[in-house]
Amino acid sequence: MTAQLPGHPHIAYVDNALCVEGLPLADLARTHGTPLFVYSQQSMLDALAAYQRGFAGRKAQICYAMKANSSLGVLQVFAKAGCGFDIVSGGELERVLAAGGDAAKVIFSGVGKSRAEMKRALQVGIGCFNVESEAEIDVLNEVALGLGVRAPISIRVNPNVDAQTHPYISTGLKGNKFGIAHERTLQTYQRAAQLPGLKVVGIDCHIGSQITSEGPYLDAMDRVLDLVQAIEAAGVPIHHIDFGGGLGINYNGDTPPAADTLWAKLLAKLDARGYGERQFMIEPGRSLVGNAGVCVTEVLYLKPGEQKNFCIVDAAMNDLPRPAMYEAFHQIVPLSPRAGKGEVMDVVGPICESGDWLGRDRDLNVHSGDLLAVLSAGAYCMSMSSNYNTRGRAAEVLVSGGKAHVIRQRDTVADQLRNEQLV
Ligand code: LLP
Repeated sequence: MTAQLPGHPHIAYVDNALCVEGLPLADLARTHGTPLFVYSQQSMLDALAAYQRGFAGRKAQICYAMKANSSLGVLQVFAKAGCGFDIVSGGELERVLAAGGDAAKVIFSGVGKSRAEMKRALQVGIGCFNVESEAEIDVLNEVALGLGVRAPISIRVNPNVDAQTHPYISTGLKGNKFGIAHERTLQTYQRAAQLPGLKVVGIDCHIGSQITSEGPYLDAMDRVLDLVQAIEAAGVPIHHIDFGGGLGINYNGDTPPAADTLWAKLLAKLDARGYGERQFMIEPGRSLVGNAGVCVTEVLYLKPGEQKNFCIVDAAMNDLPRPAMYEAFHQIVPLSPRAGKGEVMDVVGPICESGDWLGRDRDLNVHSGDLLAVLSAGAYCMSMSSNYNTRGRAAEVLVSGGKAHVIRQRDTVADQLRNEQLV
């Protein structure tokens, strides 16, 4: 019998065994150990297809925001599918190149690009720099002139729109460090258009992450289109409009719009305002990979207590930092559910911090040695993982076409000590 997990395509119980694309996770855990990240390639491609449907017949470039999951095997999936990449560091650029991505389809975001990062990005010929401050414009101009080239730029506008999400992942408000203030954008474009090392190609805006309603997108779009109109009226043509990423996923009954539904609405607005024929760029991260991944972890100990029961597992905040950082909710389910009643417990890791929890007050019927899956672990988990407590980072497996491919070996202690030396 097959029971699909709602909101987690290609992850299902088959005869009481949780599977990814039909492969039992328990078998993968036995072969590769735990904690183990397992991803469904088909789920990533389905998520991408929703965007592709949304943009059918339009000039659009989907640039996967690789900060969500920058493992080479994941990048390779999106590179093969024709995606570009939204990067935020020189390191991410090298990952794109190593995964076979096309530099010309790379856009470089971020408030703190260094000269060295700019130089390398210009040398490999990236598609566009999303410039985030007036100071950055001058430095980029200088670096480009030094190389005898012109840097393609768009300016990231801070539209002052509330994305109605967690404050740490809201980026389009005046108090955030991102982008150039809406009221300074026009004059900044006029200045940039005059600099010999720059070539204005677009405009960009990204208002936040895990956005679950369409309102903030529609508001931001209006604000950006007002600017495009004003900038072009001042004689600076804008070739592409980049709407950023940010579409949320279902972690805990969240109901974000589907990418194609959202884009049908946004494109209707673009058409109504006469901008439907432009080149569009988008930078989705989480919505392409978040629900394509799980983290499998083993129950080490059950520790009943007067106030709290604890279920101590072998994954921790170094593997899955989102609960500790944002009090984020991830569903946690057994790989082989047991019959009978469960108990309420906190699922915690071995790290020496009270903040090291993965789930609070979860109703679980588990014994030590059981395996659990932390769901929605495809985005901002491995890419934010660390070696805290000298814990090796987990291994990763990508399931595709009925086969499990190891895309990252578990860190060894030698891996961790490699760059250190005694005095
Ligand atoms: N473009 C830019 C310029 C961004 O800063 C981001 C995310 C994205 C695109 C992709 O956003 P997405 O589609 O993934 O929502 N660590 C946090 C999320 C941080 C997002 C940072 N910027 C978390 O775990 O929720």
